[in-house]
Amino acid sequence: MNAVSTSVELKRDLLTGMEWNPSQVRALFSLAAEMKARPEQFRSSLAGRVLILLFEKPSLRTRVTFEVGVANLGGSSIFLDHTASRLNEREPTRDIAKNLERWVQGIIARVFVQETLEELAQNASVPVINALSDRFHPCQALADFLTLEERFGGLRGLKLAYVGDGNNMCHSLITFAARTGVNMRVATPAGYEPADDVMAEAKRVSRETRAKIELFRAPEDAVAGAQAVYTDVWASMGQESEAAERERIFAGYQVNEELFSLAARDAVFLHCLPAHRGLEVTPEVIDSARSIIYDQAENRLHVQKAILHTLLNS
Ligand code: CP
Ligand code: NVA
Repeated sequence: MNAVSTSVELKRDLLTGMEWNPSQVRALFSLAAEMKARPEQFRSSLAGRVLILLFEKPSLRTRVTFEVGVANLGGSSIFLDHTASRLNEREPTRDIAKNLERWVQGIIARVFVQETLEELAQNASVPVINALSDRFHPCQALADFLTLEERFGGLRGLKLAYVGDGNNMCHSLITFAARTGVNMRVATPAGYEPADDVMAEAKRVSRETRAKIELFRAPEDAVAGAQAVYTDVWASMGQESEAAERERIFAGYQVNEELFSLAARDAVFLHCLPAHRGLEVTPEVIDSARSIIYDQAENRLHVQKAILHTLLNS
């Protein structure tokens, strides 16, 4: 039996995170914890299977954790570097998908626009996994909530503050906060709020889980009493030309000692990395004992192994 299956059939692809209901997310965390504790039991889970990593943007964590994860599960991977020429330039995305499905058992893609993932998924019969898009970063958010669960022993009612840009990371944290019953407070400057459709979907799911997702303007309002404080870069990959303007707009959203001191006494700091010390976070916070950034990075490996095991064995 598929470890993540519940009464609702599991979707083939992981494009947004919205494919999974709360109990499927819960089952994924249980499987990830089991795979982390007993990796030897899963050494042939992907035996004979080949995965493609198709990346339009640079990566350290996502690339390495997927390559190591596939190898740990007995499969192999091929990295296709599309950082110099985007998909659809040399040949249509549709043709890429229709070729790849003949040779490999899954596609892990990091893309500039979400629609590229959807086009890959529509045209390939094998699972497509979002390794980051402009809209979502589900693998990172799943690793983050697994890390918080390990740290706090449970997620329901946990107070998570997100400070900064309402970007892909923020969207994925909202999506999975809704599914895990987390109380998430998001503070962004005007015009940088998370997308309305992401908020609306999260609110729908929250009715079932009693999660609370709230938007604020002042970072202090989000951080007050929080058990976990999360931030991400102010200019994401692809937004480099806006970096200077964003530095001005986000200046008051830095997670520093003063802001962090408003959080709960046992609060932890999270960041998906790469981080810009001195911009969105100060070294005093990110390099302190309260920072769990490397636990998050480690859990990318375990949670993605669980995702692969689930999607490729169902
Ligand atoms: N956090 C994350 O996805 O890191 P990379 O961009 O290095 O993959
Ligand atoms: N928001 C960042 C996340 C990097 C992992 C970006 O898209 O560049």
